[in-house]
Amino acid sequence: MNIFVTGATGFAGSHLVEQLLAAGQTVYGLIRPQEQGQPWPFIPVVGDVLDVASLTTAVAHAQPDLIYHLAGLANVGLSWREPALTMALNAGGTANLLEAAVAYGRPRIVAVTSGEIYGPLPIEAMPINGHSQPNPIHPYAISKVAASHLLQVYHQRYGLEVIEARPFNHIGPRQALGFVLPDFASQVASILRGQHEPRLRVGNLDAQRDFTDVRDVVRAYQLLAELGQPGQMYLISSGRPVAISQILNLLLELADTAVEIIPDPTRMRPSDTPILYASHDKIQHHTGWTPTIPLRQSVQEVLAEWLAK
Ligand code: GDD
Repeated sequence: MNIFVTGATGFAGSHLVEQLLAAGQTVYGLIRPQEQGQPWPFIPVVGDVLDVASLTTAVAHAQPDLIYHLAGLANVGLSWREPALTMALNAGGTANLLEAAVAYGRPRIVAVTSGEIYGPLPIEAMPINGHSQPNPIHPYAISKVAASHLLQVYHQRYGLEVIEARPFNHIGPRQALGFVLPDFASQVASILRGQHEPRLRVGNLDAQRDFTDVRDVVRAYQLLAELGQPGQMYLISSGRPVAISQILNLLLELADTAVEIIPDPTRMRPSDTPILYASHDKIQHHTGWTPTIPLRQSVQEVLAEWLAK
């Protein structure tokens, strides 16, 4: 079976590719022209989700039976600084991918949106479930709502076998700066190495999010490709809220260090959803998936990664 992955060079994409290759699959990955020449573990195919012609050529080259669509801009804070690019990559990129799939063989597609689309909901509405209504409050969430609607429309209009994976926060090795755990772990590592005074800059510590290890998340994507129902949406989550202050405390406990906490206005967002967590009953029911990697292990591995850098 030929598999084509967009976003193969990204955080979740790299873990997905690793698991697919370990399972003996043939994996083509979309790369941009400037990424050529690197020793990618997958078969590289040049193209850009912003350019439908190049994307169609890439899909035609890979002749996939299955596409995982992970490419996009994933950083909520950055979406405030680059709103139009966020829309172009996440909504436009999804439209281009769907067009390319219609043109070439109509492969099954697992496409990734985001639990961030729900925005602030009353506490009584938690945990989020399949009936919860999106209430997007930033450009990133709006772009993912649009992507989600496009998936539905292409499923209905063309009969494309599209499955929407809607994950909540994922953490683990190889996540870039700009997300909360690497942002904190990188600072703790510099402090432990004596490169930095023991002061840690933070954004909103009161927010609560639903964290799952990235390796569990990409395993969910594979199970959805195999067992998910076309036209359906699946929430991928741990099912419990964790305050950002708890993530920070866990990290400091594992590092066995004390620091002064400095609120940093540049890390605060124009709007930040106070609490988000979701039920994973549906994906568990349809595929048997449950998360397996404890939060403590993910945090420990990320700290070790930054200490080794
Ligand atoms: N990035 C960052 N850096 N966030 C911070 C910091 C900091 O220094 N301090 C506090 N936070 C808070 C943010 O305000 C937010 O409430 C929370 O930590 C998590 O921030 P992120 O890790 O940036 O993730 P996110 O919740 O905005 O979005 C992530 O999860 C979505 C799914 O729920 C991303 O991975 C999205 O791509 C994903 O769709």
